[in-house]
Amino acid sequence: MRTVDTFVDARALGSGCVGLVPTMGYFHEGHISLVEAARRECDTVTVSLFVNPLQFAPTEDLESYPRDLDRDAEMVEVAGTDVLFAPQLSEMYPDEPLTTVSVASVTEGMEGGMRPGHFDGVATVVAKLFAGITPDRAYFGRKDAQQLVTVRRMTTDLSFPTAIIGAPIVREQDGLALSSRNIYLDPAEREAARSISRGILAVADAVLVGERSGEELERIAAEPVNDEPGINLDYATFVDQDTASPLAGLNRPAFLSVAARVGRTRLLDNVHIDRVDGGWVPDVGIRLDEPSILYREA
Ligand code: PAF
Repeated sequence: MRTVDTFVDARALGSGCVGLVPTMGYFHEGHISLVEAARRECDTVTVSLFVNPLQFAPTEDLESYPRDLDRDAEMVEVAGTDVLFAPQLSEMYPDEPLTTVSVASVTEGMEGGMRPGHFDGVATVVAKLFAGITPDRAYFGRKDAQQLVTVRRMTTDLSFPTAIIGAPIVREQDGLALSSRNIYLDPAEREAARSISRGILAVADAVLVGERSGEELERIAAEPVNDEPGINLDYATFVDQDTASPLAGLNRPAFLSVAARVGRTRLLDNVHIDRVDGGWVPDVGIRLDEPSILYREA
């Protein structure tokens, strides 16, 4: 694996079908599953690692966001990465950007509503990665469901010739969706956080036994979080997979997204519901059978 910090070098090292895994680092099995998918499908696997200030509000955790380049480099090399692109701020944003990317409509509710400007930051940095690395395929986790909708729409609107691949959520042993921010949770917060995946898994079960009402699915997702002390629900929202707009009922591919705050940590989870062979199939992702590498030292 080569670690480089310029777009020119990252692009020069790509040959054949180039698969890009955009990340902000502090890797866990969710990131590794994206690298492994890219390894199976591409000739060159490039992982970008950049904690993007443009997508953090001044009140958010940009300064404290976990960073450990040596740990991360070792993990993605083992997973089959060819190129680790870890640019400095001056490479990504040589000047205060006068050109940014803003994706309307799909960014209005849920995370977009709660974090104004967040998706402009995401769309801008992903557009820069696509322009600078020219990947054939790019891999994103389904956990950040609204981000995936936004990136798909931006890619279509700006005619990037990059196929967008959404990969299943990876969950810890107790069901909590993996996030680099899970390391912030103390034991009591961790216990409270489990209520999120309890709600999500209950939604999947309800879909399997025929529940189709958006309102009822939102109620099922919200209930365990609302019943749990020490966690505050931001939203439980049932939306269209393509437009991220609210759906009254399950009549198109959809996802139900939950966001909640535990202490100073905001957590997201969701279940995508796909049309498979004429039926509705919930995708709750995969569950680890041992503690996550998130808690392992380099
Ligand atoms: O999902 C993330 O880690 C980030 O939002 C991304 C896509 C790498 C853009 O900074």
